[in-house]
Amino acid sequence: MGSEVVRADGDWLALREPADAAARAAGLVDALRRVLPDGRCLVVHDLGSGTGSMARWLAPRLPGPQRWVLHDRDRDLLDRAATRPPPMAADGSAVTIERRLDDITRLPPESLSDADLVTASALLDMLTAPELERLVAGCVRAGCPVLVTLSVVGRVELSPSDELDRDVMDAFNAHQRRATGSGTLLGPDAPAATVAQLDAAGLAVTTLPSPWRLGPDEHALAAGWLTGWVGAAVEQRPELEPVAAPYARQRLAQAQAGTLRVTVHHEDLLAVPR
Ligand SMILES: C[S@@+](CC[C@H](N)C(=O)[O-])C[C@H]1O[C@@H](n2cnc3c(N)ncnc32)[C@H](O)[C@@H]1O
Repeated sequence: MGSEVVRADGDWLALREPADAAARAAGLVDALRRVLPDGRCLVVHDLGSGTGSMARWLAPRLPGPQRWVLHDRDRDLLDRAATRPPPMAADGSAVTIERRLDDITRLPPESLSDADLVTASALLDMLTAPELERLVAGCVRAGCPVLVTLSVVGRVELSPSDELDRDVMDAFNAHQRRATGSGTLLGPDAPAATVAQLDAAGLAVTTLPSPWRLGPDEHALAAGWLTGWVGAAVEQRPELEPVAAPYARQRLAQAQAGTLRVTVHHEDLLAVPR
């Protein structure tokens, strides 16, 4: 069992931000607008906010004044969030942010009590089952809509295909489900568990796919993703190393040449109290 707390890298989050923005399911935002209160300042709590990419994406898609509360355990990422605040709301209203350094799986019951909306993005796979249960319980207690985007589901497609794709994907998924100091991570099992728990708590849950589709224009992101994907697979299954090294070299050359297409599947969900 490793003892590490899984950390996100700020430069990696910046590199992926445009692809994340293109991938999130706009259809769920249309549904969200219909259930949010109007006529007052919206309070949005973003859990595992990182540098605030969710606020930069969603705030300008919602009307009216908004106060975003960004929660993360990583001070460096929260500091970056302060340097890139979200733009104005859809109707030009002001959007403000407040940053809170905390563990989102151990939030005091009152911390989300003022929420009109709870959001999270690219978060769920990093949680253990007990952490997810506490997180979902907090969201349910908040009694407001919950929008969770870009949860990895463990499926990846590369074109052109290669006979090693499947082995690397399986090893990567096993790495996502590894034991850490906090327990065994849910990895790609997290989205289904989240839907089941929100549904059992009586919320109406809608899901939509939100894949990254990386082509020649996204070759830098594809290369960064590939390096991390193969690296995690080899860390999990060191016996893959002799074949994974030439595989990675070939895939990176294809990304550089603009001949590689990568689809990384994700799922978004919107849960609304009935
Ligand atoms: C992959 S990053 C995504 C960041 C951001 N939501 C985005 O879409 O760019 C996951 C974030 O969740 C945060 N995180 C993970 N577990 C956490 C916990 N238990 N408490 C607070 N933050 C956590 C990490 O520090 C990291 O910033």
